[in-house]
Amino acid sequence: MTESHVADPAAESAGEPASGPAAPAAALRPHAETAFAEELAALAAADDRPRPARWRLSPWAVATYLLGGELPGGTVITPKYIGPRRIVEVAVSTLATDRALLLLGVPGTAKTWVSEHLAAAVSGDSTLLVQGTAGTAEEAIRYGWNYAQLLAQGPSREALVPSPVMRAMAEGMTARVEELTRIPADVQDTLITVLSEKTLPVPELGEEVQAVAGFNLIATANDRDRGVNELSSALRRRFNTVVLPLPETAEAEVDIVARRVGQLGRSLDLPPAPEGFDEIRRVVTVFRELREGVTGDGRTKLKSPSGTLSTAEAISVVTGGLALAAHFGDGVLRAGDVAAGILGAVVRDPSADQVVWQEYLEAVVRERDGWKDFYRACREVSA
Ligand SMILES: Nc1ncnc2c1ncn2[C@@H]1O[C@H](COP(=O)(O)OP(=O)(O)OP(=O)(O)O)[C@@H](O)[C@H]1O
Ligand SMILES: [Mg+2]
Repeated sequence: MTESHVADPAAESAGEPASGPAAPAAALRPHAETAFAEELAALAAADDRPRPARWRLSPWAVATYLLGGELPGGTVITPKYIGPRRIVEVAVSTLATDRALLLLGVPGTAKTWVSEHLAAAVSGDSTLLVQGTAGTAEEAIRYGWNYAQLLAQGPSREALVPSPVMRAMAEGMTARVEELTRIPADVQDTLITVLSEKTLPVPELGEEVQAVAGFNLIATANDRDRGVNELSSALRRRFNTVVLPLPETAEAEVDIVARRVGQLGRSLDLPPAPEGFDEIRRVVTVFRELREGVTGDGRTKLKSPSGTLSTAEAISVVTGGLALAAHFGDGVLRAGDVAAGILGAVVRDPSADQVVWQEYLEAVVRERDGWKDFYRACREVSA
């Protein structure tokens, strides 16, 4: 689908609107099952291992979809998640049991990303999603009513508006709950019956919706944010918890950032940045050093700023830098294009973080070989 919507470059450069019926605009961010439809189809075709009821792929193929690999026919499956293989294997096999999956970790460790890709690979649909907030009500997890119909006819099947969780139960699909711990504790507990009894009673109709085989649920929660609610121990017992770690080495993190920036850049029509690798390495180095509170060589202790400086933020800083380079520079990513983004990510709190940043700039950046251009660029945006 995505390919067919790409505008004809010839028509664009002529500055003329395309004639005929306007082509539907491409989604800014297609769902995983759409963006990677070809890979999923190739995997399904090559996959001869047993599939759990209603799964689109075998657990092995789901893991290959996430971790990447090459199929016998030569089709290359791009890695979606870069990290320990075992984590993905445990996550996938959990989904094949009667226990739900909880992805836990600090911000920006790809919890949402992994959850979306798992749902896409297992059920072919990642959209059965409840976004958890402090205002999430029970109806968002159970069901609501179409009030016009409810008033006209009283409670009926037609007037009932199923939640994504209810639909997943009825159809044997994967439901997703984002940011589970932001949901008030009493609303979270609605999930206990769903996960242990595998049923959702509808007392108004004297009925229940029973989950069919294939139903499971993936929740994400991050353990860093302030103002989150505890997960009750009763609910926690219904989940298998998988903790997604921060990338272990700088190389792994550079690899993640470079891949994601490449994908994002293509969808935003930004030029590819093969020469930008040095800047990506620099952003990752700065983020890791400040996050860990010590320089890469272990020699200098540093203060950490209040922000999380996650991999996800490194991805946005580099993407922002690429846009600057493309639109206001010569298309090559340079120190000056990432400096402002780094400053914005590091200095969240204007006073305390500013001090941390200045110290880092003078004690580390200034003294480092080959970092003069970056030091100058940072001084310019800090001033
Ligand atoms: N190990 C990794 N492998 C692949 N991509 C990664 C990895 N770590 C982070 N990313 C990328 O980081 C981006 C942000 O990830 P995501 O939004 O899923 O994080 P999150 O853990 O849900 O964060 P939050 O707690 O803020 O919701 C995604 O684009 C994802 O591709
Ligand atoms: Mg998330």
